[in-house]
Amino acid sequence: MAKILVTGGLGFIGSHTVVELQQAGHEVVVVDDLSNTTIEVLNRIKKISGQEPTFIKGDLKVRQTVSGLFRAHPDLDGVIHFAAFKAVGESVEKPLEYYENNISSLVYLLQELRDRKLDNFIFSSSCTVYGQAEKLPITENSPVVPAISPYGNTKQIGEEIITQAVEAHNFKAISLRYFNPVGAHPSAEIGELPLGVPLNLVPYVTQTAAGLREQLSVFGDDYPTRDGTAIRDYIHVVDLAKAHLVAMERLLQKKNEENYEVFNLGTGTGSTVLEVIKAFEKVSGETLNYKIVDRRAGDVTAAYADTTKANEVLGWKTEKTLEDAMADAWRWEKKIRNIN
Ligand code: WQD
Repeated sequence: MAKILVTGGLGFIGSHTVVELQQAGHEVVVVDDLSNTTIEVLNRIKKISGQEPTFIKGDLKVRQTVSGLFRAHPDLDGVIHFAAFKAVGESVEKPLEYYENNISSLVYLLQELRDRKLDNFIFSSSCTVYGQAEKLPITENSPVVPAISPYGNTKQIGEEIITQAVEAHNFKAISLRYFNPVGAHPSAEIGELPLGVPLNLVPYVTQTAAGLREQLSVFGDDYPTRDGTAIRDYIHVVDLAKAHLVAMERLLQKKNEENYEVFNLGTGTGSTVLEVIKAFEKVSGETLNYKIVDRRAGDVTAAYADTTKANEVLGWKTEKTLEDAMADAWRWEKKIRNIN
């Protein structure tokens, strides 16, 4: 089995991926600056998998931190890079911090991979790179359009940097473009940690149902969709985590067909905001308090994945449904709020 460095491994998708790597028998080293998570997640990972990953608290925009990591662990077989600032709205207010953090950490990691001739790099990217795609469902060949947020731009720039580094230094890399990650681990030991007012739909739904928020605002019901509300591809975070395991093993076993590959990770099904609310109400038995308000600036009408390449080339497909995700998200919310 392999030894994998997971940056941002105590974060939402990172922690679920650490569990899947461990349960597949891999050894995991986690580095996280704890800027958007808590150290308790380490113990909760252990409660699920039975083993605590090696943990290093570190800021990857500090060059010495990155080289120190690789000196301490010269036997790494691969890197999965989640660590990044990821709030779209915040990135508009603080673009320079987003570029400094998200880009320099990526460059420093790639320099270490180059210098140590370490292959097998997986990059956390996003469907944001497609903007409002002309054609749906969205394939990996759909055009990447100029990002509307500095956050989205750091993902686009990141992919370009990786492409050119792979060409120049001949290591292998995969970018995984996530659609909308939702849900939590069925054990309710790990999930989306609510730090501040949630910007994303599903944590806002569960916090409203838990009584932390007065009412959910649905951003617009005048979109050209079946019920007027916007459509997204909501993918269960456990399915997403499993895709990272499959992608890393693809590289470890040298099954990749190109040195650099890109995969869309979604369910292939779009759901409207009202359908998400309905699914939540069905599995929770709660009646959600919401109101329709104006559209949110920057939102696209619809985005959902063409999953052909992920299914047929990567050899991975989602198994969990939107209702599974709502049930797991609700169980997690009730657990952290001590609601029985
Ligand atoms: C989903 C839908 C909103 C909140 C963002 C990032 C993307 C990725 C996932 C990191 C939209 C509606 C939301 C609310 C609402 N993040 N909504 N009321 O914007 O599709 O994607 O998160 O990679 O990069 O852009 O996700 O959950 O914010 O919104 O009506 O209180 O829910 O308008 O239609 P989004 P979201």
